[in-house]
Amino acid sequence: GQSLRALAQRSGLRIGTAINTDQLGSNARYDEIAASQFSSVTPENVMKWDAIEPQRGKFDYAAADELIRFAKQHHQLVRGHTLVWYNQLPQWLTDIGPSLTTKQATAILKQHIFDEMTHFKGRIWQWDVVNEAFNEDGTLRDNLWLQKIGPSYIEKAFRWAHQADPKALLFYNDYNIEYGGPKQDGAYALVKGLVKKGVPIDGVGFQTHLDTQYDIPDLRTTMQRFAKLGLKTAETEVDVRTTLPVTSVELSAQKAGYSETLQACLLVKACISYTVWGFGDAFSWIPGVFPGEGAADIYDEHLVAKPEYTSLQTVL
Ligand code: XIL
Repeated sequence: GQSLRALAQRSGLRIGTAINTDQLGSNARYDEIAASQFSSVTPENVMKWDAIEPQRGKFDYAAADELIRFAKQHHQLVRGHTLVWYNQLPQWLTDIGPSLTTKQATAILKQHIFDEMTHFKGRIWQWDVVNEAFNEDGTLRDNLWLQKIGPSYIEKAFRWAHQADPKALLFYNDYNIEYGGPKQDGAYALVKGLVKKGVPIDGVGFQTHLDTQYDIPDLRTTMQRFAKLGLKTAETEVDVRTTLPVTSVELSAQKAGYSETLQACLLVKACISYTVWGFGDAFSWIPGVFPGEGAADIYDEHLVAKPEYTSLQTVL
């Protein structure tokens, strides 16, 4: 059959993957799939703050630049991930964090956004400006930025991001907001307020890390809800984990997880990209974080396409 990217092109949808830059350039099969199947790429780790500024004021953009070169060579767009997050912060920042004043924390966050976005200016299609700001109960997550700057850190981040690279699409990105409930409502209230105030936000990213032990979310309804605010949407980190070894009923649930979430994106006009969080089970983040679970990706441990891959092809 045709590649995912060729099929998706017919409907104007970008189909993306997270890229593990340790594989890129050293694993020919990995490169071949990344280039031929996808029309968008997201750095899985190398644009996070700990990667780009390991020591204060000393920047390392090498791995991310390599990915940008790869994307350009293969006519792919790049999702920048991620500028403001509580996790994967550099050690120097974690160390000084508690002692920072409001003014200092604000200056550091602003500088970070300008440093990174200026480096990549004009080369990023969508930026995940703020990632995972909510708790499950819909309150804001207690992170360094909330503690030191207060809830306005989110709005500030979007304003700075727009100044730094006015052409990039600016996203709020989170997980478990695919399901109805307090977390989705919290994110909805946030972005609605931002839109109302004229804060430059363009879209909402639904990570879509699914597990066969839970329902498949109704992303069509959810994304329409956000789209009515005038926002774009994207599925940004899709994978469908299950307990190992995979039974036939779990496999069919995984196929449904992929096909239903892709179908939702295709049916929602505002949904501009569908991105899987890596494409090979050998490189998936799942086994390291969810003990006993895995097989979450569309290619197996040997980079052979799985039935989940075929189910995406069928929907496209
Ligand atoms: C994960 C990566 O996949 C891992 O390699 C890393 O060790 C931790 O972060 N939500 C996000 C992503 O927004 O950045 C996370 O990526 C997965 C969950």
